[in-house]
Amino acid sequence: MNAAAASAAAAAVVTAPRCDRTKAWGALQGHFEAHGRELDLREAFARDAGRFDAFSLQAPEVFADLSKNLIDVATRRFLLDLARECRIAERRDAMFAGAPINTSEGRAVLHTALRAPPGTAPFSAEVHGVLDEMLAFAEQVRGDGAFTDVVNIGIGGSDLGPAMAVPALDAFGQRGLRLHFVSNVDGHDIAPVLRELQPRQTLFIIASKTFTTQETMANAAVARRWFLAQGMAESEIGRHFCATTTNVQAAAAFGIARTFGFWDWVGGRYSLWSAIGLPIAIAIGAANFRALLAGAHAMDRHFVEAAPAANLPLQLGLLDVWYRNFHRFASRSIAPYHQGLRRLPAYLQQLEMESNGKRVGADGEPLPATLGTSPVVWGEPGTNGQHAYFQMLHQGTDVIPVEFIAVKRPGHDYPALHTMLLANCLAQSQALMQGKTAAEAATEHPPTASPTVDRAALARQRSFPGNRPSTTFVLDELTPRSLGALLAMYEHRVFTSGALWGINSFDQWGVELGKALCNQLLPRFANGDAAGLDGSTAGLLQRLMR
Ligand code: F6P
Repeated sequence: MNAAAASAAAAAVVTAPRCDRTKAWGALQGHFEAHGRELDLREAFARDAGRFDAFSLQAPEVFADLSKNLIDVATRRFLLDLARECRIAERRDAMFAGAPINTSEGRAVLHTALRAPPGTAPFSAEVHGVLDEMLAFAEQVRGDGAFTDVVNIGIGGSDLGPAMAVPALDAFGQRGLRLHFVSNVDGHDIAPVLRELQPRQTLFIIASKTFTTQETMANAAVARRWFLAQGMAESEIGRHFCATTTNVQAAAAFGIARTFGFWDWVGGRYSLWSAIGLPIAIAIGAANFRALLAGAHAMDRHFVEAAPAANLPLQLGLLDVWYRNFHRFASRSIAPYHQGLRRLPAYLQQLEMESNGKRVGADGEPLPATLGTSPVVWGEPGTNGQHAYFQMLHQGTDVIPVEFIAVKRPGHDYPALHTMLLANCLAQSQALMQGKTAAEAATEHPPTASPTVDRAALARQRSFPGNRPSTTFVLDELTPRSLGALLAMYEHRVFTSGALWGINSFDQWGVELGKALCNQLLPRFANGDAAGLDGSTAGLLQRLMR
């Protein structure tokens, strides 16, 4: 064991009270009842000309305007007290040092070590050994021109990160090299991909931390059969298939000789920085992949070093608790105003909901029913979302905080389109906050309104409550570095809210029951045996088999 690994092994898990058992919680409750619940953003801006400056933060690569959130100076102060009482700083340091904070699996949580410069974090030699090897391979694939298509077969954390980052960084991609992502066990996913491929020019990456995941193994077997059916020899599998996994033996048993490894202290949903990032490295090249890591590392340093009041991931995690547990907002919408970020909401769904969708604490104690954890995270790129579900955001009965992501400089040559996009982005957060009274609506003459409609009823239907909160993140440009920083910001925010709730954000026992029941059902599809099943499952089984 080297020195860094030894110090990681020695790092201890920090104990701390759950958020609702602190003094700060009581203060927050009092503050919520007295001021928080009724805070009006329009009045807050009218009262305080400095609100934008007071509630915006600059972190590496990411500017965040938090001023359109339902917070004031006192909210922030009490939330910071909460962070102190819950020992977030000490727990963050324990994570970075390699303490086994994933207690139910006895594992460290060290995705931050994957993006740390050589010699500065635990397991540095191993991390940089694999990274160098993987990037050399990525350059080879890009350089020798033998491959025109790369197919990543993986699911969850072995798919969502690369599937999100590759289109996001399209401007940095190599032309003539097509990246495909197959994840679903539904054959409608792989079939159209295979249809377009030439086996001689195709590289398959079988991406699976465990190399046991049903969907990935099934799709990998389909790809292998297809490859051989195209007249390729078994001996050519070595050149056309590689694996990214912690389970090198299982990959070898599948017939894969070239494997890029990683470690059990890399959670699936935190793994795009590891060998799982191979498709990204092939798409954007080694130097750009290193820039992605450097951006994430810069955000890591910010999370560790910035003062609490200026610490963006910390502030976001605290805000999440404020909204979830005091305002009782049950969901948060992500609206990236950049088409390249179209898969970001799906990526964040796994990051946040698989991490913090828990109802029993890390100590094994069920959380009180009143202590909600992960909100539903969902969204679509703007402006598309505006023409779909923004109606509900503006006028629905639920308040849903929205997170806008705006990028100042586009990666294309259509400046007029970009200006329109940005104007739309600002207009939406403005409209959510500003609203429109029925009296204002009554002065309007909408051309599509029925001439016989009751004018007062129409005005009420056309009014907007406003005071709906939002955060706007601004990136100067969407680059590997800024994307890395943005994603690390989300990771640390999830760590913060999970730590406040006292849950283990790094296991995912909740996915297991369905997997086990699926394995029990599979043979019933062959023999039709519905004995012992509940009436609905039995009825559906028989209907699907008929
Ligand atoms: O089903 C959940 C999960 O275990 C995720 O946490 C993980 O990212 C995904 O499945 C894929 O797992 P693997 O990389 O081991 O195939």
